[in-house]
Amino acid sequence: MSKTFGLILAAGKGTRMHSEIPKCAYPLLKKPMIEYIVDKLERTMIDEIVVVVGFKKEAIMDILKDRVKYAEQTEMLGTGHAALAAEAVLGKEEGTTLIQPGDMPLMSIKLTNKILTAHRNMGNDLTVVSMDFKNPKSYGRIIRNKYNMITAIIEDKDCSNEQKQIHEVNSGVYVIDNQILFDVLKKIKKNESKGEYYLTDIVALMHKECKVGVFNVYDEWLTMGVNDLYSASVAERYLRDEINKSHMLDGVQMMSPNTITIGHNVVIEPGVSILANTTITGNSIIRSGAIIGPNTEIHNSEISQNAEVKHSLVYDSFVGESSTVGPFAHLRNHANIGAFNRIGNFVEVKNSKTGEHTKASHLSYIGDAAVGSRVNFGCGSITVNYDGVNKYQTIIGDDVFIGCNVNMIAPITIDDKVFIAAGSTVNKDIPTGSLAIGRTKQINKEKYYDKLIKPKSEKNEKNEK
Ligand code: UD1
Ligand code: CA
Repeated sequence: MSKTFGLILAAGKGTRMHSEIPKCAYPLLKKPMIEYIVDKLERTMIDEIVVVVGFKKEAIMDILKDRVKYAEQTEMLGTGHAALAAEAVLGKEEGTTLIQPGDMPLMSIKLTNKILTAHRNMGNDLTVVSMDFKNPKSYGRIIRNKYNMITAIIEDKDCSNEQKQIHEVNSGVYVIDNQILFDVLKKIKKNESKGEYYLTDIVALMHKECKVGVFNVYDEWLTMGVNDLYSASVAERYLRDEINKSHMLDGVQMMSPNTITIGHNVVIEPGVSILANTTITGNSIIRSGAIIGPNTEIHNSEISQNAEVKHSLVYDSFVGESSTVGPFAHLRNHANIGAFNRIGNFVEVKNSKTGEHTKASHLSYIGDAAVGSRVNFGCGSITVNYDGVNKYQTIIGDDVFIGCNVNMIAPITIDDKVFIAAGSTVNKDIPTGSLAIGRTKQINKEKYYDKLIKPKSEKNEKNEK
């Protein structure tokens, strides 16, 4: 059986994106556009994928590595010129080639297979994939003759006022006999106004001698092109909806899903609730019964069963079973929170591990610490881990009660069952069972008001007399 090739055009700069990243490498939900395309094409009837690279080709090749073959377009002279660059790789092959622009991340596996099958069934030499857009601006228009046969594609810029009224547009996807492709590409003339070779011209060049048909896409959003940051946001909304929908159908409850962003590699178990304005990305895992959000960001982290994280940031960290985090907490750089903990308002935990039933309810910094179980961090207590040059560890045992506003200057080891008096600054190890007080003794100076304030005012009174 003859082979089917996928040819992706991804050499363009994407000037309209106003970005240093080549357009096809531009990330949507943190995943490059070109990766969406290759991920899906690999699962279609296509046998081999060739990507045309050019502008900042390393960026694209770094993403796709050896998953595809590459052809290089050395000068950006238009889509026709880009397709011809693939001759070096595909020129001798026999079979069918599906051409797809590298800025079409929503295209589905199902639709690609449908297009390929239709091309075969219709016995076409060339099939142009079109869709109907209410606002066709910036797309090439499909021109049909009185028999409703396609005769040309005219770019928006080159359209007459009458042609501009046409709502059927070129998606940029074509299926074509591979041998015909490289013959016809060489016949394309430079478009004088733009100085580019338009791939779209193959229709006018072929329609008289070959069988050229149109496949009209019903779900027009699947074939939308991403050309600027607005269309990137529209595509991102579709991708977000798709991911959210699949989680919801798997038993994840989402409040205001249009404000929730979930990354591609995130695992969420059934029975999780996610509240508004929440973003979960990276290799995060959310276990059943957890409640996440509102206003929460979680990246590369695991949240265990029945834990709750609200109004908080959690990066590269772990939250144990039934623990609560937030509001306004920040866990980062391998914070490992045990089960049944409470990490409350304005508490930051960095590179630290806690046992079970430990609490830091308000205004604490816990950094580079190994903390036991049933430890209570009083409001404002802090591990002083940094001397301006190096960072040191704080070790805290089980059943420790740390009073409010305590500074624990690391390196320090605080054994089990210790009390630290409020306001203390401790820098020496504290043995099991002790009470540590590290603050100056209180002195009360009596009649101080009388001494400082009263004589002055009495003096003033005398002067006034
Ligand atoms: C193109 C079509 C237009 C269609 C639209 C659909 C042409 C002339 N126009 O316009 O009819 O409606 O897509 O989205 O084909 N590229 C290269 N090398 C180049 C130029 C472009 O590889 O020299 C690549 C780009 O990286 C991009 C793709 O080709 O992935 C399409 O180019 P783009 O500039 O986005 O074309 P449009 O103006 O959208
Ligand atoms: Ca485009």
